[in-house]
Amino acid sequence: MNSNPALIDIKNIRKSFKKPDKQELLVIDNVSLNMREGDVVALLGKSGSGKSTLLRIIAGLTPPSSGEVLYKGKPVNSPIPGISMVFQNFALMPWLTVLQNVELGLEAQGISQKERRERALRAIDMIGMDGFESAYPRELSGGMKQRVGFARALVVKPDLLLMDEPFSALDVLTAENLRNDLLELWHDQETRLKGILFVTHNIEEAVLVADRIIVFGSNPGFIRGELKIDLPHPRNSQDPAVLNLIDDVYTVMTSAEHENIKAIAAKRKLVGLDYRLPEVGVAELIGLLEEVEELQQKGPVDLPDLADVVRLDIDTLFPVLEALSVLNLAKVSEGDIAMTSKGKELLAADITDKKVIFAKLLLQHIPLAQHVLEVLQSRPHHRVSKTYFQNELEGHFTEDEAERVLTTLINWARYAEIFAYDYNTGMLSLEDVK
Ligand SMILES: Nc1ncnc2c1ncn2[C@@H]1O[C@H](COP(=O)(O)OP(=O)(O)O)[C@@H](O)[C@H]1O
Ligand SMILES: [Mg+2]
Repeated sequence: MNSNPALIDIKNIRKSFKKPDKQELLVIDNVSLNMREGDVVALLGKSGSGKSTLLRIIAGLTPPSSGEVLYKGKPVNSPIPGISMVFQNFALMPWLTVLQNVELGLEAQGISQKERRERALRAIDMIGMDGFESAYPRELSGGMKQRVGFARALVVKPDLLLMDEPFSALDVLTAENLRNDLLELWHDQETRLKGILFVTHNIEEAVLVADRIIVFGSNPGFIRGELKIDLPHPRNSQDPAVLNLIDDVYTVMTSAEHENIKAIAAKRKLVGLDYRLPEVGVAELIGLLEEVEELQQKGPVDLPDLADVVRLDIDTLFPVLEALSVLNLAKVSEGDIAMTSKGKELLAADITDKKVIFAKLLLQHIPLAQHVLEVLQSRPHHRVSKTYFQNELEGHFTEDEAERVLTTLINWARYAEIFAYDYNTGMLSLEDVK
């Protein structure tokens, strides 16, 4: 256990935003977290769970609705030199050169032009970008742009480096390169960094880099659990200890997902329509089920293995797993997935029967499908505009979410031939169903 001095203390942070209808949308619920000097912490969670918002709060860029952030015991209410941030999309000024972009990090600090230049050049050198001082961002590859992003963050000699999915916009090899360089800087003490807190939705990345992984849950964002990692750097993704840890993280995340699904199922009996359908196409659903069937020959399928075979990250894989679970096509637990008898039946059926089976599952497990069908049946011409349902759903969701949920439902229902949708008129109907 790290007993170094405290670096950052995050106490009971809540954050909500005003929705267009003036209702509050709670994005982060009661998050507390502390870091000590020497900590490298990964914040792992699905997109939309409030990770960027939390990071912006810690950086002093956004105020929390309640709770506080203490940096070495003092409240953070605005950006401070001790904390700096690396952004996912680099956030460089296109009209400034590399050198000017890096100097920008020092602008607010009242440092002489000469010293600014010296420090910026040093930071550029440190991150391997010497020779590119007078280049413009558009002349640089993604990996080089992010190196500039790092130099700009490091030039202030921060104690705490916050990074919001810093490698996710880069290709795999570039990401690995930059990750290793960053870890080298961290271990060399060249940067004099005292802590790193980074957001990721890549499980392997979290395990390869962090000493602590904080698993973040969604709707609203909260801390589900934490895993400690005691392996020395550099770590190898094929090392059995690393593979075991990746497995552990999947188990934490999927058992959490599973509870989530059970909670949703219990709640559904009371309210019904506020279930956020995972945004997944029918082809992806059936595709993943086929992979599971293939791998399942040798027993229940390990999720990391499945993720490896289908090459999906958690933002794409988990929605499909959730959809398979709610439709009762597969069971996910303890980091494993197994097909249900319904799943087997679906795969064995021909295309016509597939549609019939899928329609039954949809009406049985997705209350919104049942609801839309009932409304359509109750109308004389069996036609209702999509806007009607959108308005209905906006009681439960934001406008964007309502749109996403309906789009997914329409895709599923068209496949199942439960109802039709005409993109030109924006009408849902029973008539056109073939
Ligand atoms: N400035 C804002 N105004 C309104 N809603 C916001 C704002 N910033 C983020 N949100 C909402 O907060 C939620 C969490 O967003 P974010 O922190 O970006 O999540 P993540 O980084 O985990 O993907 C999302 O539903 C997003 O739409
Ligand atoms: Mg984000």
